[in-house]
Amino acid sequence: MNKLSQAFDFRHACKVFDETKKIAPNDLDAILDAGRKSPSSFGMEPWHFVVISDADIKQKLSSACYNQPQIMSCSHLVIVLYRKAVQFTMQSEYLRQTVRRNLPTEGVSFELDAACQYFINYCTNGLPEGVSIDNWAEMQCYIPSANMMTAAAYYGIDSCAIGGFEHNKVMAILEAIKPQFSINNFDVALCLPFGYRKNPQSPQIRWKKEEVVTFL
Ligand SMILES: Cc1cc2nc3c(=O)[nH]c(=O)nc-3n(C[C@H](O)[C@H](O)[C@H](O)COP(=O)(O)O)c2cc1C
Repeated sequence: MNKLSQAFDFRHACKVFDETKKIAPNDLDAILDAGRKSPSSFGMEPWHFVVISDADIKQKLSSACYNQPQIMSCSHLVIVLYRKAVQFTMQSEYLRQTVRRNLPTEGVSFELDAACQYFINYCTNGLPEGVSIDNWAEMQCYIPSANMMTAAAYYGIDSCAIGGFEHNKVMAILEAIKPQFSINNFDVALCLPFGYRKNPQSPQIRWKKEEVVTFL
């Protein structure tokens, strides 16, 4: 079996981590790079990864995540934030800087305005009915999240996607530490604790291939 399929078999939703084991900096870097290099709609990378290893911060976050044991026991907690709609307006510095990178002639403001407007038109007319820019940004965060969990498994590191958290509480904790993480600008897509399993892996329960795949 190749190392990638081994990683898919190794990954499971780890419920409690071994608190004595910490992830080495180069492994953590490789995991974060798997997130950073993920694809995104229009190349907008509508995410930001906050990495936490400090026990006091984890303690505060734990209660905002319904005291799930992964938060305190993990080696590193990555909070995957999505960038909210306010960061994707014509005036937004984030939008302008992100679009500017992809322009052939840097600094031509007409082209920059037109390219930003093209993206905003997509958001206004191109998104399915009922899907907001916030939804668009949040759903993309699942791509780097999945890539980070698979990359971790590749290096023998465990993880668990945590969707059970209180958005406002997590954001209030982050904003109190760094005001740039205001709920006006960001919200939480997922919490991703990483570390080393304490207990044996749970069985992987999945539908059979023919039940989830259709060839036409
Ligand atoms: C978006 C999302 C949110 C999840 N939230 C939680 C959670 O809050 N707590 C938890 O223990 N597991 C959580 N999980 C893990 C799933 O329960 C788990 O992946 C699923 O039951 C399949 O098990 P496996 O990953 O071990 O194969 C979440 C998974 C996803 C994808």
